[in-house]
Amino acid sequence: MNEEKRVILTGFMGVGKSTVAKHLAHLLECQRIDLDSMIVESEHRTIAEIIEQEGIEQFRRIETATLRRILEAEAKIIALGGGAWTIEENRRLIKSHNFTTVWLESTFEHCWLNISASKRVRPLARNKSDALKLFEERQRVYCLADWHFIIKPELNSFEIAKQIAEEVFSFNVN
Ligand code: S3P
Repeated sequence: MNEEKRVILTGFMGVGKSTVAKHLAHLLECQRIDLDSMIVESEHRTIAEIIEQEGIEQFRRIETATLRRILEAEAKIIALGGGAWTIEENRRLIKSHNFTTVWLESTFEHCWLNISASKRVRPLARNKSDALKLFEERQRVYCLADWHFIIKPELNSFEIAKQIAEEVFSFNVN
């Protein structure tokens, strides 16, 4: 297994970044951090509350500041919120900390199914047409990730994590 490697998971809302990160960390027996959870923990508010009370630009500032902090931590695996990788400053920070980035790539319908089934309020995906517009706009930026991992509908999040462990970390899963 590649012991040195540290991985960032990115991709659109609802693709399953947090769940895949959780399985991946379990398989590799290493620490993982979820960027959105860190923000919620330090702000004592939900992401939706931050965006609604302070606006998206202030949320992005908090997001970058939190990212900066967690990149310095021990974790081998970080799951980003869906917009974090679209900010150039964040991409620069991530690269300068030598993380390998993995884009969990999926269809819009798959993401939307998860978004609409979730109880979590996602202020940037309140309706399907806004979410689709954002999805389409972001493809070219997600494309800049080092690895493109296409989520096949027949795979569950554990199987996806297993494949990432094998392919990205050269980890032999029995
Ligand atoms: C966002 C995605 C969300 C959260 C915030 C903004 C985005 O995270 O960070 O609502 O801009 O795509 P998830 O991708 O975990 O839903």
